[in-house]
Amino acid sequence: MTREERLNAIWARTVEKLKEVVREFKITEDELHAAGDYINRLGQSGMGRSLVDVSLALTSVASTTPGRRGTRSNLEGPYHAKHPIRPDGNILERPAAPGAMLLTLSGTVTDAVTGKPLPGAHLDFWQTDGNGLYDRKGNNLRGIVVADDLGRYKLSTVLPADYAEHEHDPIGELFRAMGKPNTRAAHVHIKVSVGGKLRLTTQIFMPTSSFLDKDYVEGAVSDDLIVKLEPDPNAKGTDKAYRAHFDLAVTAQ
Ligand code: BEZ
Ligand code: FE
Repeated sequence: MTREERLNAIWARTVEKLKEVVREFKITEDELHAAGDYINRLGQSGMGRSLVDVSLALTSVASTTPGRRGTRSNLEGPYHAKHPIRPDGNILERPAAPGAMLLTLSGTVTDAVTGKPLPGAHLDFWQTDGNGLYDRKGNNLRGIVVADDLGRYKLSTVLPADYAEHEHDPIGELFRAMGKPNTRAAHVHIKVSVGGKLRLTTQIFMPTSSFLDKDYVEGAVSDDLIVKLEPDPNAKGTDKAYRAHFDLAVTAQ
């Protein structure tokens, strides 16, 4: 199929599907115009790409990489940056806010096909703090941890929190109108590279989240990406510390 034929087929099918919706819900001309006005506002706000991401991107990943082995991939999202290497595995650049829970996350990185560990793999982490805020200007709670000779990694951080976004743009407007939250379930983003080649982009979720069953990114949360937290017996002088184990199996992309 040429590019032109593919575009024609996709457009024709999309219009056909939308006509079905118009018939099913007897959508009026006024309602169609309201939808058109909404699309205009969405475009003006620059949020069109984000709306297709939160609604459809994970369906695209699943249908374009069938049978892919290893840890399930997930969206990179908008908050990745270039991060420093953290030789001690600690991505907290300042003391955790009072009340924040410390988190030690560890595991092994392996090749999903051979099962062999991947020493020297780079694990690039970024996440919110305990109040659901990303550091947008600096590198707090951001950093790269290098796997050891046996492919093991250890990250010292805090427990991330749920966060709402798009409060003041047309995506928030749409979700509010539907009575749905525009909230992400608490997660840690991870990108794994081996020998400078990106092998996996994913997110892991915290069981403490109240939004695991209603993350506004369709299809983001799955049981295999939810970590199990337990009290950290090695944490000294605090009972506010968890540990969790999460192994990562990566493929060539
Ligand atoms: C995020 O993880 O932050 C994110 C990912 C996809 C869409 C919106 C947010
Ligand atoms: Fe995020």
